[in-house]
Amino acid sequence: MTYPIRIVGDKVVLREFTPGDVDDVLGIIGDNKVTAWLSFDSRSRDQAIDMIEGAVERAQHEPRTEYYLAVTKRDNDRVIGFARIGFGGVQAGKLGYAVAAEEWGRGYATDAARTLTTYAFAELGLHRISAAIGPENAASITMVEKLGFTREGVLRDHVFTNGAWRDSVLYSVLAHEWQP
Ligand SMILES: CC(C)(COP(=O)(O)OP(=O)(O)OC[C@H]1O[C@@H](n2cnc3c(N)ncnc32)[C@H](O)[C@@H]1OP(=O)(O)O)[C@@H](O)C(=O)NCCC(=O)NCCS
Repeated sequence: MTYPIRIVGDKVVLREFTPGDVDDVLGIIGDNKVTAWLSFDSRSRDQAIDMIEGAVERAQHEPRTEYYLAVTKRDNDRVIGFARIGFGGVQAGKLGYAVAAEEWGRGYATDAARTLTTYAFAELGLHRISAAIGPENAASITMVEKLGFTREGVLRDHVFTNGAWRDSVLYSVLAHEWQP
């Protein structure tokens, strides 16, 4: 049983969500500055509660189908972001992440993505991890390229978000390529 898990990175801790995280989570997925870059529109408080309840419930599925984890700083349990790998395909996972806007630029997302990817290859036996990123999302593209992901191509009209279709650029990294 891999619940609950807690993974310690250099700058962040990845842990399971709890019902007490609602206000912090709303500060992330309810903020247009963050969701402008995500595949869903900003969420209300009720939707944030549903999101947490869904994550807690799915986390206890056996076997797990996703690792949707809260990101905190190492010395403070407040949620400053999330990182997720959802399973799909053959030993494959899709990576997603976000950090609260007031914490951008401090390396938290890089550390969260690196820590979760390392865990997925080393502990979960994944072979391939992909990330689908909006073509104009310079921060996210910079981040995955620095982490060693390879650009595969463009997924046309991949998501419908903020009232319009949006392409995604698909990046991936394979287990034997990963250098944490
Ligand atoms: C993408 C996101 C998660 C990055 O979070 P972060 O904690 O600020 O990331 P980091 O501090 O680890 O920085 C990542 C890299 O991107 C660079 N970067 C940040 N903003 C940038 C920008 N506007 N243009 C270009 N590069 C940028 C940083 O300088 C850093 O590179 P560095 O290590 O050389 O300095 C954050 O901007 C976010 O939550 N955005 C909204 C949600 C989102 O886009 N999620 C990903 C969907 S695919």
